[in-house]
Amino acid sequence: MSSVVLVERVGGVAIVTLNRPDKLNALNQELLAALYGTWSDLDHDPTVLCAVLTGAGKAFAAGADIAAMSTMGTSEAKIFSDLGHTVLARMESAHFPILGAVNGFALGGGCEVALACDFLYASEAAKFGQPEVNLGVIPGFGGTQRLARRVGIARARELCMTGDMITADRALTMGLVNAVFPAGELLTQARSVAEKIASKGPLAIAQCKRVMQRGADVPLPVANELEAQGFSWLFGTTDQKEGMAAFLEKRPASFKGR
Ligand code: COA
Repeated sequence: MSSVVLVERVGGVAIVTLNRPDKLNALNQELLAALYGTWSDLDHDPTVLCAVLTGAGKAFAAGADIAAMSTMGTSEAKIFSDLGHTVLARMESAHFPILGAVNGFALGGGCEVALACDFLYASEAAKFGQPEVNLGVIPGFGGTQRLARRVGIARARELCMTGDMITADRALTMGLVNAVFPAGELLTQARSVAEKIASKGPLAIAQCKRVMQRGADVPLPVANELEAQGFSWLFGTTDQKEGMAAFLEKRPASFKGR
């Protein structure tokens, strides 16, 4: 049986693929647990400098698994929601950035997984939405919260309350995705940006992710203090000495992640 999550390493970049294409990568317990294990393994590997997350087939992920959810009661639903939140928090706490390459449907839980990526690129075929209200429920993996933080509360309310699907172009206009590419170019473009990020100082990238992630949900003076701590901590690293010396000596920097 093939794995529901595939991982390919290309240098410092990990390409992670949701791989349950016959069910449009619907997120069941098995897939969520495998995804958690994948992020955990990658986070324990300091040679991973950036990741790209995409989906096999015509979907990024068409949501939490409706068949699995259909028989859940209140406590099972809470455990399932907690699992989703745990996986997404694991993505946000990883030491490396995760670029979402949204190749197709990113609906419900699929849109929520995308929202836990650091930023998103989409193919022209991508479709986004929080259609849970069509099923008599609401988003359960952070959609009501992360979507509002990403695109503003009014647009998030529109998506969560209508359940409508939107195109990649509309997602671009509202700032949900950073760029839209023809389907055949999406992964190449995402990999190329991931390689660029992987070429920078790894400790600086990790601090950048951490400070921007943690700073987003605290008052500005606290967030600025987080930044000042991250900034000054980097001055104790070899990479900072190397990066600044390389600039002054007019040569490329050779970062070591130390
Ligand atoms: N959960 C479980 N199974 C799902 C699923 C989901 N969220 N989304 C798709 N699937 C399954 C379908 O049941 C179907 O399985 P089958 O072949 O065994 O019948 C398979 O994936 C293919 O989906 P299908 O609906 O035939 O593809 P489509 O191209 O006609 O439609 C969608 C694509 C995305 C519009 C449609 O699958 C859909 O609306 N999915 C649910 C979206 C949703 O509500 N997500 C939020 C969940 S909280």
